Amino acid sequence: MPATAAVPALAAALQKAAAAPIDKAFAMPPALYTSAAWLRLEQAKIFAKEWLCAGRADAAPRRGDYFVFSIADHPIFVIRDDDGELRAFSNVCLHRMTRLLGGTGNCKTIVCPYHAWTYDRQGRLIAAPYMKERPKFDMATMRLPEIRCETWQGWVYLTLNNKQQSVAARMRELTPYLEGYNMAHYRQIACEDDVWDANWKCLTENFMEGYHLPVAHRKTLGGHFPVRETRFAAKTHKHFTLQTFTKKASAFVGTAHPANATLQGEQRRTSVLVTVYPSHMYSLAPDHLWYLSLQPKGTGKVSIRFGAALAPEVADAHSNLDAFAAGVVKFLCAVNAEDRAVVESVYEGMNSGLAKPGPLCWLEREGHEFAGYLARAIKAR
Ligand code: FES
Ligand SMILES: [Fe+2]
Repeated sequence: MPATAAVPALAAALQKAAAAPIDKAFAMPPALYTSAAWLRLEQAKIFAKEWLCAGRADAAPRRGDYFVFSIADHPIFVIRDDDGELRAFSNVCLHRMTRLLGGTGNCKTIVCPYHAWTYDRQGRLIAAPYMKERPKFDMATMRLPEIRCETWQGWVYLTLNNKQQSVAARMRELTPYLEGYNMAHYRQIACEDDVWDANWKCLTENFMEGYHLPVAHRKTLGGHFPVRETRFAAKTHKHFTLQTFTKKASAFVGTAHPANATLQGEQRRTSVLVTVYPSHMYSLAPDHLWYLSLQPKGTGKVSIRFGAALAPEVADAHSNLDAFAAGVVKFLCAVNAEDRAVVESVYEGMNSGLAKPGPLCWLEREGHEFAGYLARAIKAR
């Protein structure tokens, strides 16, 4: 099926791929990754409607702390307001539409870099130089559009969809799997943005399976990962998928710190690998957390927010936390680089006229559940 195939034909191919039981399932057809028309559908039916993760709440702990994010072409900033709440606003000036804030920082007011229109931390316009002379200019009625923002277990989620169910309601069935892990209080040590040359789904699927770990990650974590100890959720969930895996004691990170008193037995070396649909993925280990939040930037480009955090007892244990954190981030970046090589190579392969989907391994069950999610999302009105 070519990338120019009609959308209904692509949708039918997806439904067929998703409907197969895992032991008869194949990878999704390459045209679902390379078709521009299909991507437009994903933007409208998935990314404009779902909750997307913008990072961790502890990235903005004090009043006035902010960081930026964007959903498709909508620049957004997240800020801790005067009441201590995290809120999100359109990052576009109400005057001539300049982007207001960049990166991260702290501010008392938000001053547009172009003509100095100024907003408070609740998004209200509070100053506009020389505008008093304009008849009927009423600052009191002008405020930045607010974007829905919810925090759950330390994650900050945003959506453009005012009708979407709350994050807590969607994650209710996930909570029992996270018991014992103190995820809400993990402390962020890094957050970076990047763009890779692949379809967003190539990276989502890659993060969801440990099948490639002994091979693609043999230089980093591959040797510390007993493949056969992978376990999946007992049932398929609508809004997320997950697996658990264990790490050997030899692993650089991934096992509980002696000061961790909540995880018991096997759980002390068990990580939970979660994908919150469509594109928030994290590996929650007893000692650290590693996450990706993805958005398409074209069929062959994926925009990535990558971050890492440490369990509180791990952060507290290190007198030279910066040096330890830098070591952890360096290690995770090396793992990311290994993923980048394979993920970009997959996308390259998908563009070949000779490419066709192969049979899936049982270890790729989450990727198959992801196909099921896509099929439901595309079908939904
Ligand atoms: S564009 Fe922001 S003040 Fe003019
Ligand atoms: Fe990987």
